[in-house]
Parts: sequence; C-alpha cells; structure tokens
Amino acid sequence: MKLRMIAALAVTAALAAPATPVSTQAQPDLGTFAREGVVVSSSDIASDIGAAVLARGGTAVDAAVATAFAMAVTYPTAGNIGGGGFMIVRLPDGTATTFDFRERAPGKSTPTMYLDAQGNINRNLTAAGYLAPGVPGTVRGLAMAHSRFGKMPWRDLVMPAADLARNGFLVSRSLAGGLNREVAGPMKPFPGSVAAYGKPGGGQWAEGDTIVLGDLAKTLTAIATDGPDAFYTGWIADTIEKAMAANGGLITKADLAAYQAKERQPVRGTFLGYEIISMPPPSSGGTALLTMLNMLEALEIQKLPRLSAEAVHLTTEARRRAFLDRARFLGDPDFVEVPVARLISKAHATDLIKTIDPKRASSSVELGKDIVTVPGEESDETTHFSVADRNGMAVSLTYTLEGGYGAHLVIPGTGFLLNNEMGDFNKKPGTTNLTGDIGTPANLIAPGKRMLSSMTPVIVARGSRLVLVTGSPGGRTIINTSLDVVLGVTAWGLTGREAVDAPRMHHQWLPDRLSIEANGVSDDVQATLKALGHDVRVGGTQGSAQTIWVHPNTGAIYGVADRRSADAKASTPTTTPEAQSGAPSGVRR
Ligand code: DON
Repeated sequence: MKLRMIAALAVTAALAAPATPVSTQAQPDLGTFAREGVVVSSSDIASDIGAAVLARGGTAVDAAVATAFAMAVTYPTAGNIGGGGFMIVRLPDGTATTFDFRERAPGKSTPTMYLDAQGNINRNLTAAGYLAPGVPGTVRGLAMAHSRFGKMPWRDLVMPAADLARNGFLVSRSLAGGLNREVAGPMKPFPGSVAAYGKPGGGQWAEGDTIVLGDLAKTLTAIATDGPDAFYTGWIADTIEKAMAANGGLITKADLAAYQAKERQPVRGTFLGYEIISMPPPSSGGTALLTMLNMLEALEIQKLPRLSAEAVHLTTEARRRAFLDRARFLGDPDFVEVPVARLISKAHATDLIKTIDPKRASSSVELGKDIVTVPGEESDETTHFSVADRNGMAVSLTYTLEGGYGAHLVIPGTGFLLNNEMGDFNKKPGTTNLTGDIGTPANLIAPGKRMLSSMTPVIVARGSRLVLVTGSPGGRTIINTSLDVVLGVTAWGLTGREAVDAPRMHHQWLPDRLSIEANGVSDDVQATLKALGHDVRVGGTQGSAQTIWVHPNTGAIYGVADRRSADAKASTPTTTPEAQSGAPSGVRR
C-alpha cells in the first residue's frame, strides 16, 4: 500500500478509535462504512474529488461527473475524455435509466478498413495511432447525465480535474510504472503523447514525483467554462480534425459535431427475487448477464457449494451459451435489430439449459457451428466506479479507452489520449474463428455506428432497497466478473467484501477455455473440471470491481475497493483530505 494511503488510513483510524474498546471480537471487514454517500474508484485521488462533491451536497451523478473528469487526469490508462462508456443511474424511488456515450465509427469508415491486401486483420491499425479511434463520447455523456440528475454547477464538477492537471499531483508507483512503459514503448511514435506524458527533461517517473498536465488543464478548463461544445465544435474539434487529416486519420469536425449521447432504458431482469438492472446494447454486457442469471436460476445454482466442480461447470456452461448469443445477435440497436427481449426471457434460458450436460463440457464449436467459419483477444484496460449519495441515488459507471492508454495518441495541444475502440467492431466480415474473432453481421463497421461493448455496469435491488452497485474492466471478462460478484452476493449470501475478494472465472464461448484466477479453486476441483472436458487455465487476476454493497440487515452502505487495483479507494464525505485537514481533495503534496 502506498505511503499516502497509509497516512490517510492512520488519520481515519485515529479519528474513529473509541476511548475504550467496546468489543474484543474481531469485526469482519465489510468495506468503508458510508453514512453520507461514497465513491469507489480505481484512483484514490479521483474518489476523494467525487466524495468532496457529495460533501458539498452534490448528487451521485454530480459526484460521478467529477470523478470521471478527475480520472481523465489521474488514471490515464482508462480514465478519459477521449473515449466512451456507459452509466446507469438508479433513483431513490427505484426507477432507473442509462446513458450511452459509446464511441461511434467516423463517417469515412468502412467494414473492411482494417484488412490488409491478403484479407487479414491488420491489428496494428486498431492498436495505436490515427485510424484506431472512434468518435469520443465521454464529454457529451457526462453532460447529458448532469443535465438530467445534476444539482451542482457543471463548472464546479470539471474544474477540480482542470486544477489537478494544472497544479500537478503525486504519481503513485503503479502510475509511474505505466507511464514509463508507455513513453518508452507504444507512445514513442507520437510526439504529442511523449510531450504530454514524458518526464520533463527525460528520465523515468518515480513514485512521489509530481506530474503536471498543462495542455490537459487547458482542455478541461475550456470544457468547464464553455461546456461540452468546447470539445465537439470548438478549437478542440478543429485541432483533432487538422491532425487527423494530416496523419491519415478519419475523424472530422462534422463527426464530432454530430456525436450524441443517448439515454436508453436499462435491461432489467430478476434473479432469485433480486432485481438486476444493467446496460442494454450497444453493450452486450447487460443482455449476456441476464441470460446467464436466468439459466443459473433455472439450474438452482444457489443450492450447490460455491466453488464446487458442479457449480463451476454449470456457470461455465451458462457463460459459454450467453457469449454465443452475443456473437450471433448483438450490435448497435440503432443499426441492427437485436432481439433483447427474447434473449433475456426466462423461456430462452429454459431452452438454452436443455443442451447442458451435467457430466460433460459442451463443445463451443459444435454449439455455434452455424457461425464458426474457420479454425483461427481483447486487451486489459477500462475502469469502473460506483457512487451512492446520502439520498439513495446510485451510479454505476464503466468507461474506457479500450486498450490501456487507448490509441497511445495525444494530439498535440489537446493533452488527452484518444481511444482505440474501433477494434471492438467485427473486423473481418464473415470470419468467426476459434481464437475469438467474430465476423457476424450485427457488429460490422458502418459510419456512425457504435461498436459492441462488453462493459457491464450493474445495479442490484430488492424491492425498494439498493443491494449492490458493481462493474469492472477486462474486455470480454467484464461480463463474467460482474456475474461472479452478483452471484456471490445474491446466490451465496456473501458480503460485498467477500464477493469482491472471491475468485473469478471466465469463459467466452471461443476460445473454448475456462480461465480461473490464481488459487481460485482446489486442485481436486480443477481435476474434476478437466475430467468433464474443460480446458482449464489457472492464474493471474481478473478485473477490478469497485463496488458498493448494502448490508441486508442494517441497511448500512459500504464502499468496497477492489484490492486487485493498487490505487483503488472508497472515499466518503468524511474521509476526504478536505474533511480531515482542510486540504483540497486531490492536491496532496
Ligand atoms: O467496450 C469493451 O467491451 C472494451 N473496449 C473494454 C476494454 C476493456 O475492458 C479493456 N480492459 N480492461
């Protein structure tokens, strides 16, 4: 744990320590108790900035907006204004809505733009540089959510991020490592990126250095002062268009001006009496999550021991089938007909489980042979945060640049990283192979279309009561991470802390293998799963689920920071530096 976090915890502990211990019994770690709301994110500084907004009476949406802009400064691997994402808002009365600010394909894009002369996918083009980005949606999305549910002035939510960029902030060990790798590697071809993120004067970033992001401060100040139009129609749009045209990129000022965020109805379902609220297309996450939960409810998964071979076998078969549906049917609903209602129906789940053999792993190829064309992944950065305010409004927000640091591209003068989200489209029409490439029509590239996502922000409720707010990064593993956290709390009665700490698993139909986090299941269980025919791979970690959990007996709210992220923190209005020492949140020195 970093020194600054230890110092902050020591202050919290000192303030919270009772004069005489009331009990000598160890209390279970339930997370950070949050009487007045909480922000749980992968950036401690950004969590503090969000919590300071809650302290000033801002709503959960206000806090989410401030946190998202702050993460665009403190967490450049995924926090962004040059990318996109999804937000779910649940109001105290139980109604819910979502905001879709997914990137769109530029007007000049074509279905085969990433194929080389031999018809193979040129992954360099989607990995980095000027052809990789979709038209960013984050700034419009945050503005739309703010206009619906914000209470504080927009400027007051964006300026803390601009100030942070201008005044600088302390680099953590994980940020130093990430920046050093980026600047020496993928950012090297892009002078604007090295100028923005290289250490002034050269050399390596180290924990404790102060990083100042001058151009980003200028851009954020413009957005704070002039609103989202500064980004989409003003000088920032001019700068993007000019650099794109000069470097073979596609995004134009017209693309930026035409970008609109969308408010969409969430997908909703039930699982063992819980209400599940998640993201509709163009994310596949909510639909796949509900399909899996419906199958697992019909299979009475809650009656099996949690990490038993039987339970893991059945959850794997459910994951496999929902991912096959994803490959077959899901895409941007503004462009293709997606049969969401059928896919999330209990009847569909009943049909799907008829093909599950309790004694044998199914073959993914056999199940999907109508779409698999030839024998033949997704990267690992995005970020999720969860917010609740004292009135019971909750926000579940996942946003991303796609790969870590997106396209590794900062257009000179703008200070922010552009996404490489175009790679989420199906890039080779007609080719669906064993390595996980999908070529089905629903997610082919078309001008103005949103690429399919796996981001799965989710909110769980029971009657009028909030139960859980969660989500994760991790490409296609996201859907399974959200499933595992939801199952932990709902099927197996874990606390939020236990469900977040619990081992996670992944199966995405193709490639046909089951990944389990290191130490996730016993050797015996692994052996049984292999005997059933699963290709089991054990190791690593999966996702980062920054979660809010409500105690079922007391109704107390807890922020649960996922320990898999080095800088994660659950901040409440009483734990910010501002509340404790008067220092402004975020500018700790
Ligand atoms: O939208 C998606 O599903 C992906 N672009 C998310 C990428 C991702 O999660 C990478 N991260 N860890």
